[in-house]
Amino acid sequence: MSNGHILLRKSSELHGTIELTGAKNAVLVIIASLILANGKSILENVPNSADVQQMIALLTDLGAQVYFDRENNRLEVDTSTIDRFEVKQEIMNKMRASILVMGPLLARFGRAKVALPGGCLIGARPINYHLLGFKKMGVLLEEAGAFLNAVLSSHHSMQNHNRIILEYPSVGATENLMMFATLVPGETYIINAALEPEVLDLVDVLRKMGAKIEICDGMIIRIKGVDKLNPINHSVIPDRLEAGALLLAACITQGEIHLPTARADHMDIFLEKLREMGHEVTTGTNPASDLGYNMHQGIKLKATKFPKAVSFKTGPYPGFPTDLQAPTMATLCIADGVSTVEETVFENRMMHGQELQKMGAQITIDRTHATIRGVEMLYGAEVIATDIRASCALVLAGLVAVSQTKITGIHHWRRGYEKLERKIKLLGGNIEIFDEE
Ligand code: UD1
Repeated sequence: MSNGHILLRKSSELHGTIELTGAKNAVLVIIASLILANGKSILENVPNSADVQQMIALLTDLGAQVYFDRENNRLEVDTSTIDRFEVKQEIMNKMRASILVMGPLLARFGRAKVALPGGCLIGARPINYHLLGFKKMGVLLEEAGAFLNAVLSSHHSMQNHNRIILEYPSVGATENLMMFATLVPGETYIINAALEPEVLDLVDVLRKMGAKIEICDGMIIRIKGVDKLNPINHSVIPDRLEAGALLLAACITQGEIHLPTARADHMDIFLEKLREMGHEVTTGTNPASDLGYNMHQGIKLKATKFPKAVSFKTGPYPGFPTDLQAPTMATLCIADGVSTVEETVFENRMMHGQELQKMGAQITIDRTHATIRGVEMLYGAEVIATDIRASCALVLAGLVAVSQTKITGIHHWRRGYEKLERKIKLLGGNIEIFDEE
C-alpha cells in the first residue's frame, strides 16, 4: 500500500481530446476467463492498473506464462502451463475480483481453492450468489479455515438443464457462473442476469473462444456447454468509468472535452443527467457496427457555466452506474439547487460525502441517501480517499476548490485508474501525484 498523496490546485477550464484506456471492470474478468482456453491468448487495450497487476500475479501464481507489454497495453497469457488451483489469501485480500477465477478453474480442471474474501469498505459484498449457483451446477463446496474448497461432483455430467436464479443481477455472479457454464454439459439459464457492458464484453470473448451463449429477453443468459474452448485475440472495450470521470472533470471546471473512442451507448442515463444539468452533450453514431446495433461512438461535451442540480438513483445496467455516483456527486456540490442521490447497489458507498463536506460541500447523508445543496465554492482541504470512486470524486472537487487539496489513500486511485492524472494534466488540470511521503 502506497503512502503517497495527490495534490490539486484550482484549475481553469479543462480542454482537449482524450483516448480512453480499456475498461478495468471488463479486463479483470476477461483475464480470468483465459483460464478456460488451453493455450496462448492475446488481449489489447489492457490498462496498466494495480488491479490488473494483481490479476497477472494471480495467474502467474497458478502457473500461467504471462507477458505484459505495458507501453502498448498488450497482454499475452499462455494458460497451457497452469498446474495450481489455489488463490492465496494475500491476493484475495488485495483484489476481490480474484473470486472470478473460480468459475474458469472449476470449468477446466474441476476444482478450485480460494481464500474467502474479507470485508470490503463499500459494503458487505458477499459471494453467496456465486456459491449458490455453483452448487446448483453440481459443485461441492467445503470451507477449510480461511479457504473454500470447490470440487466438481462426479455426477455433474448427468445434469443437462440448470436454471440459476439470481436474487439480484450481480455482475460478478453472472460472470463467474456464465464462465463455468461454458464447459458444463447441457444448458444453463441464468435468470435475472447482469447485462452491464463489461459482462457483454466477456460474452464477446467467450463466443470468440467457441462458447455457445445467447442473451434472451428478460435478462436471461442461455449457455450451451461445449467440450473445449480455444485461445483468442481480443481488444477490451473502452472504460466508461474513465469516460465518466473525464466528462465530469470538464463539467466541474466548465470546460470542453472530446472523447472520440467513448461508447455513448454504454452510458445513456449518465449522459442524460449531464444534459439535465445543462451541459451540451453530443454523441456520434456508427450504424455500420458489425455487432448488429448502433455503437454511438464518440462523445463531445461543452459545459454550462450555470450547472443545475439533478437527482438520480443508482441501479443495475442500464440504470445509473454506482461507480459514477461519487464522482457525479462531487460536481453537484457546486450546482444550482438541491440534488438528491440514492445508492441502491452498495449499502456503504457514501463515505466520500463526509470528505466533500470538509471541502465546504453542503451534504446531508442518511445511510444510502444524500441531499446536496449547491454552494458557490469549494475549499481545499486534507481529505481521505476511502475507495476507488471516492478518490475520483475528491480529485474532481480538488480541481475547482480554492487553494490546495491533499488526498491521501491514493492506492485506491492507482487501483482504478491508469494514468488518469496524466490525462487530466493534459487537459489543463493542476494535479500532481506523490508516491511516497
Ligand atoms: C462489479 C464491479 C464494480 C461495480 C459493481 C456493480 C468489477 C471488478 N467490479 O462488482 O466496480 O460497482 O459490479 O456494477 O467488475 N451481492 C450479493 N451476493 C453476491 C454478489 C453480490 O448479495 O453473491 C450484492 C452486493 O453486495 C451488491 C450487489 O449484489 O449489493 C451488486 O454486486 P455485484 O454486481 O456482484 O458487484 P461486483 O461484481 O462485486
